[in-house]
Amino acid sequence: MSNIKLNLTNTGISMDKILEYKSEVKEIDRVLRKEPNDEKDFRGWLELPTNYDKEEFDRIKKAAKKIQEDSEVFVCIGIGGSYLGARAVIEALNNSFYSYKKQSTPLVLYAGNNISPVYLNDLIDLIGDRDFSINVISKSGTTTEPAIAFRIFREILENKYGVEEARNRIYVTTDKARGALKELSNEEGYETFVVPDNVGGRYSVLTAVGLLPIAVAGVDINELMQGAKDAQDKYADSDLKYNECYQYAVARNILNKNLKDIEILVNYEPKMHYFIEWWKQLYGESEGKMAKGIFPAGVDFTTDLHSMGQYIQEGKRNLFETVINIEETSSDITIKEDGDNLDGLNYLSGKTMGYVNKKAMEATIEAHVTGGVPNVVINMDKLDARSLGHLIYFFELACAMSGNILGVNPFNQPGVEEYKKNMFRLLEKPGY
Ligand code: PA5
Repeated sequence: MSNIKLNLTNTGISMDKILEYKSEVKEIDRVLRKEPNDEKDFRGWLELPTNYDKEEFDRIKKAAKKIQEDSEVFVCIGIGGSYLGARAVIEALNNSFYSYKKQSTPLVLYAGNNISPVYLNDLIDLIGDRDFSINVISKSGTTTEPAIAFRIFREILENKYGVEEARNRIYVTTDKARGALKELSNEEGYETFVVPDNVGGRYSVLTAVGLLPIAVAGVDINELMQGAKDAQDKYADSDLKYNECYQYAVARNILNKNLKDIEILVNYEPKMHYFIEWWKQLYGESEGKMAKGIFPAGVDFTTDLHSMGQYIQEGKRNLFETVINIEETSSDITIKEDGDNLDGLNYLSGKTMGYVNKKAMEATIEAHVTGGVPNVVINMDKLDARSLGHLIYFFELACAMSGNILGVNPFNQPGVEEYKKNMFRLLEKPGY
């Protein structure tokens, strides 16, 4: 069983204050969980840990096995919600230097997440003559960045393997019926996976969008889903008193009312860097609208204590932090006694780096709280697939609750289209 514990001690918010939101939370929970009006209701992610396409889940595992057998590299082509979840999980659960290590599973690399020709040329260069397959992921099937990358990689695959074999190395994750990518897949006979209608991009990591690349990288997707199910069960109680996920949502709204309009998600484990990137999109795109929202930022500590630490300690007091504390480190190093002690470090001899990291965390929380930066702490037992599944679901559900408390629709993203219209006009796309 995975578990997560919320600690609001260092926020200055009492439980009584949190519980003032009890009836509001109950009502939002009721609306959130009521039968959807139509399939575009975007609440499908709520049920995903139990209500998913089992046949497709098996097909994902089969495809992952085939890719593991015939490819050294797997290029995951997508942007925003169509790649961040996969990258978050893969980087969190793999060796920190897995891209430099010889390994038994394909190296997952990312394309279509920017329009830099330099990036794409470097990626093509890195793949070199290694065997590879690709997964293009786009719910709309029309997003410019992945569409360009897909066109380029399709040609490379066809030149390398011939059209027939290239077909066996192209996996498409898109809408079940619509969009250019779906039409192309039908035409070419690519293996396709579905982004469900009722799951928006940023809530889609537990669908084929995230699961195929995650499985290719060798992560146990059953465990990931099991962790999400642990969370689904744990946070099913709409009573705020017993629901820590909703308490987090309420706490951040109280902090926001107290003029804290930037939330910094903090990790002390650099492998969680992309998890924070995933979280930033989830919260930024869900809440930043109608001139409202808490700006989601992120830092990797202790690294960023030496760059952002000054600002957080003494800059504008509109910040709060949410610290992800992983209780048990997956490996450790003991600092040895040194006869000369020229570096003066013998006071640490016999202690582990994990212990020192924890003390750095405690010291930082104390300093920042004293400096006027409230700290929420989210404790997770360890960093494994099951715990990560739990944490993903925790943040998704909290986001839906928090957006509703804030008074915005957490499931749309009208602003994302604005830059595209201008870009298409400048690129002279027909119709713009
Ligand atoms: O969360 C979202 O909706 C966005 O980040 C999308 O995932 C992103 O824009 C990519 O869209 P698509 O999957 O349609 O290519």
